[in-house]
Amino acid sequence: MSPETQTTFPRHVRHGSNSGQPVSRRDGRLKVTGAATYAADNHPEGLLHAVIATSTIARGRVRSLDVEAAKAHPGVVEVITPANRMPLHHDPNEKMPPFGFRVEVLQDDTVRYVNQPIAVVVAETLEAATEGVRLLAPRYEEEDARTGLDNGLRHEAQSVGVGAPGTVSFGDLDAGLKGAARVTEGDYSTPPQYHNAMEPHAVVAEWDGDTVTIDMPNQALRMSAASYAAYFGIPAENVLIRSPFLGGGFGSKAILNGPQILGILAARQLGRPVKLVLTRAQMYGPVGHRGRTWQKLRLGTGDDGKLTALHHHSIGATSSFDDFVEPAANASLMLYESPAIRVEHEGLRLDIGTPGPMRAPGEASGSASLEIAMDEAAEACGMDPLAFRLANYAETQPGTGKPFSSKALRECYEQGAAAFGWAGRPLEAGTMRDENGFLVGWGMGTAVFPCPQFPAEARATLRADGTALVETGGADMGQGAWTALAQLAAESLGLDLDKVEFHSGRSDLPDGGVAGGSGHTASAGQALSNAGGDVIARLTELATGDPDSPLFGAGNIGVVAAEGRLHRRDDETRSQSYADILARAGQKELVGTGKSGRDPASAEAFAMHSHGAVFAEVKIDPNLMQVRVSRLVGAFAAGRIINPKLVRSQYYGGMIWGISFALQEEAVADRRTGRIMNADLAEYHVPVNADVPRMEAILVPEEDPRVSPLGIKGVGEIGVTGTVGAIANAVWHATGIRVRNYPIRIEDLLRRR
Ligand code: MOS
Repeated sequence: MSPETQTTFPRHVRHGSNSGQPVSRRDGRLKVTGAATYAADNHPEGLLHAVIATSTIARGRVRSLDVEAAKAHPGVVEVITPANRMPLHHDPNEKMPPFGFRVEVLQDDTVRYVNQPIAVVVAETLEAATEGVRLLAPRYEEEDARTGLDNGLRHEAQSVGVGAPGTVSFGDLDAGLKGAARVTEGDYSTPPQYHNAMEPHAVVAEWDGDTVTIDMPNQALRMSAASYAAYFGIPAENVLIRSPFLGGGFGSKAILNGPQILGILAARQLGRPVKLVLTRAQMYGPVGHRGRTWQKLRLGTGDDGKLTALHHHSIGATSSFDDFVEPAANASLMLYESPAIRVEHEGLRLDIGTPGPMRAPGEASGSASLEIAMDEAAEACGMDPLAFRLANYAETQPGTGKPFSSKALRECYEQGAAAFGWAGRPLEAGTMRDENGFLVGWGMGTAVFPCPQFPAEARATLRADGTALVETGGADMGQGAWTALAQLAAESLGLDLDKVEFHSGRSDLPDGGVAGGSGHTASAGQALSNAGGDVIARLTELATGDPDSPLFGAGNIGVVAAEGRLHRRDDETRSQSYADILARAGQKELVGTGKSGRDPASAEAFAMHSHGAVFAEVKIDPNLMQVRVSRLVGAFAAGRIINPKLVRSQYYGGMIWGISFALQEEAVADRRTGRIMNADLAEYHVPVNADVPRMEAILVPEEDPRVSPLGIKGVGEIGVTGTVGAIANAVWHATGIRVRNYPIRIEDLLRRR
């Protein structure tokens, strides 16, 4: 760690002076008035429009494209195909570090999945480019598509997700199963899901010689800039990415994809600015998705209701040409104590686009199954599901025995259960009805998500008038970074929030790191706080060394920074304003910098996670068997909470995506052709207001100086994780029917009634 990475909470800061306040989002007005501009809102002079032609087959090769017809259409400037696409400096068939994805950018005529880019038509207008694509009338040599378990290629997955091991084993599984009083087991599945951010992937690229300016929604600006530079053989600093707002990311804007690279490429090849925006349908393939899984769980339990063995096996669909496998089974390494745990992953190669990280990758699909399995085991033991989870509470990290940096999960269980009224739950299924005769069920699930802290950098500039500019090149994709990060910066600077101007969303700012893994506030927030601390340290030096300052000689006693003034710690009536300190020192401004990154010793010594407990009530019409979630209560412990209003929104959002996972989302592919039959928001279901019940999110206090000096964990993705299983378990409790395949559908309940 560099000296700028602080290891203790800065002494000059008054806790809660700014962070901890439920400030409304600073970008709210811009967004509701339409003043916030997104990538596709940019129209540089001389702009051309690019539209990609995408394959309609899943496997084979493109035999012909009627390039002449497309080029003859008025307004069409160029048709880019594998035959004339400019060469790239980095071979797109080779994985691009650090995440190691491979992209399709017209490197050959092979078709590997439906909606793969096969050509780009560039024209003076969007209409001409769109018509040009139609005129290409591709002909294919089609091969049988591999679309399922029966015809895909299974293989042991060496690594899953972005670098986690594919197999992990602790203790003697066979002995644990043999010694169990009972073994429960089941097969579970989760469908392919697509991110479906409201804003489609878009790019506006403008080259000037060997430098390029790119407007695009992006969750990982610096990393992407370096990757684009590698593709085009230019220095990383020649790539400027601007990404002030994202209309949702969910992981799909953290990784590289072919279409956006093609937009940048088209601009380079044609020497004019180019805009390329995906259609909704084109987002189902080349920009990642949550891969389908088939999971098997075996749980051994003793007479005392304690696990004796936990076996979680998952097959994850991936593409024929890349390796991302949903790390689903790894969820079983995070939650429950067991003397023997084994998690295993296999990959299944299909003719699909490569899956990638999406909304709690691994933890969501894995805990969706594990939480049902736990419910089944509790049922087999004749135990209340919450009592069963408490009996198997992991005091230390399962398997490794590492202590947790903090874990207020017990408090989450208690507070969530109390708010929900869990104590009144009958053990038996199918016993509750509401006043309308609807079946009522109560279920619960445990929520968990790791809390990473990524490397990030920030800069704080104190100006002569006592206001400050703070900068970090991160991304606000709706989670509220603009607000929470500014609060942290303001607190570290001892300034009111309205005195702090926050700039983000550009790759030429200090590297804000990745807005993903629910780690942006912990990462960029710490860097900003350290940058503010650096400013105050420099300011303190100026003041305490000035014989005419009321702070003269206070160096050893220390100062407190508040409301734009430095105060002596031993006598706070003696103070001096920042503006005055700068003026007396003859300085127009004062710049401080800060970095963050997880302390390696801490990472080695502790397991680090956010935790939570989710309680769900469902109501089911006994004639139609339509499931409605009527109540959701989530209690989460995630370290220090910077903005309770926005954090609550994050939890609500996560829980709503949990409803979506449990009951709605599924991309349905035609078995024969691999074509996705519901590649639009009319038929690919996501929750609307009418699907969202009364929700409560409880913010359970938790202090954790070990995850980082500020003690911030993550709040973005965890809300999805417990909710899915809680709803499935509530459906069982209402009906006595165990549905182990997501999403749970009316027909699953009707046919087994
Ligand atoms: Mo997320 S799936 O870490 O953007």
